[in-house]
Amino acid sequence: MTARMKFPDGFVWGAATSAYQIEGAWDEDGKGESVWDFYCRTLKIAANKETGDVAIDHYHRYKSDIAMMKELGIKSYRFSISWPRIFPAGTGELNQKGIKFYNNLVDELIAAGIEPVICLYHWDYPLALMRREGWRSRESVKWFADYAIVCFQAFGDRVKTWLTMNEPWVDIFAAQFMIGKPTIEGMSAAVKASHHYMLAHAKAIAAFREIVKAGKIGVAFALSPVYPAADSEADQAAVKRWDGFVNRWFLDPMLKGHYPEDMLTFYRDRFQAPEIHAGDMELIKKHPLDFIGVNYYSRKVVKSSKAEPVLESELVEDRDQTWATNGEVFPQGLYDILLRLDQDYNHPEIFITENGTSFGDEQLKDGGLEDNWRIDFLKKHLEACDRAIQQGVNLQRYYVWSVFDNFEWVFGYSRRFGIIYVDFKTQERTWKQSARWYQSVIRNNGF
Ligand code: GCO
Repeated sequence: MTARMKFPDGFVWGAATSAYQIEGAWDEDGKGESVWDFYCRTLKIAANKETGDVAIDHYHRYKSDIAMMKELGIKSYRFSISWPRIFPAGTGELNQKGIKFYNNLVDELIAAGIEPVICLYHWDYPLALMRREGWRSRESVKWFADYAIVCFQAFGDRVKTWLTMNEPWVDIFAAQFMIGKPTIEGMSAAVKASHHYMLAHAKAIAAFREIVKAGKIGVAFALSPVYPAADSEADQAAVKRWDGFVNRWFLDPMLKGHYPEDMLTFYRDRFQAPEIHAGDMELIKKHPLDFIGVNYYSRKVVKSSKAEPVLESELVEDRDQTWATNGEVFPQGLYDILLRLDQDYNHPEIFITENGTSFGDEQLKDGGLEDNWRIDFLKKHLEACDRAIQQGVNLQRYYVWSVFDNFEWVFGYSRRFGIIYVDFKTQERTWKQSARWYQSVIRNNGF
């Protein structure tokens, strides 16, 4: 089949997962407890009280899973390391069995001709450190840097593309909104934590430059273009606040070396400004990203609203649109955010580190799954990528979320994002139509 839409030669087609969502083996081989083990096992916050205890048992099935990825033809695989598998208490004693598992995973990927891409931290924070205030403690900077150094030393000889963090905004701020209305106390703690998170990221990059020769490192941001509900001055101001809150608060320091002034003022007036010590911003500025990772699912539409006193703006969700579980299907938003990054951050190298969809649960039918709506979603977003590339955006890679159905955080196993179906009872994997389609996209470098 000739490609109607051809991506540039050398464009990298990949797939992404994360440790807590696929590994299982929650307490095996010396692994320590993560906050997500605690949230699910003790607080039971996930749907149907489900947990990632077993997930899709990737810890034991990684060889056959990688064989499936090889058959798919992906060139690169983005996965995350479970921090408490390396340091069970987050710091202190090292767990060699954890190091061994990830060495085996990296070696198996390389043997399959697939580039391993490691994300150091995808939300499964060590519970022992959360009990020591986690990111709200300035000690968290050293905890993370020490963990990053061990990983760079253990895997950096074979792994050259890394991510420090996955979705800083979701990890630090979204909880303020997902547990009801944000509060002054909650937002103040989050702003304080975000600065330590930023410092930890910068210290990890400083170590990366020393340890991983010829490597590149970035962050997978949860980026959403923000649009006004109405063309009013008040809604435009709400857009600026949300854009600063979700996008610029992390992008600007990690790429330009300073916080956005409007948000610093806003946070200083409304909650608590970050506690910036002498030398902090110099450290952050000295270690910018090599590439921007874009996790794109949908846009945000906001209106000004006094009903929400913290950001004085509310999200407008017009569910008459085609609505997936992660929001309105809006491929134009991906194009818009790519052009914006290109213009505002000096033509950076960009990877799509996540893009995919779920309309909830899906069931196999006659041993297969015709998920044409997922193919349509992926096509439309790849068309947006192609248009952005035609406009000169330096987009180099695309990682579909996700290669396998997996544990979707608070939604448990009820939201399937994989292009390969997993029977969570039998652990049997079955290719969906979208896997066949993605295989052909990779072969044709387009569609
Ligand atoms: C995120 C995470 C993934 C999700 C995916 C689907 O973006 O929330 O990086 O872990 O599973 O995005 O919601």
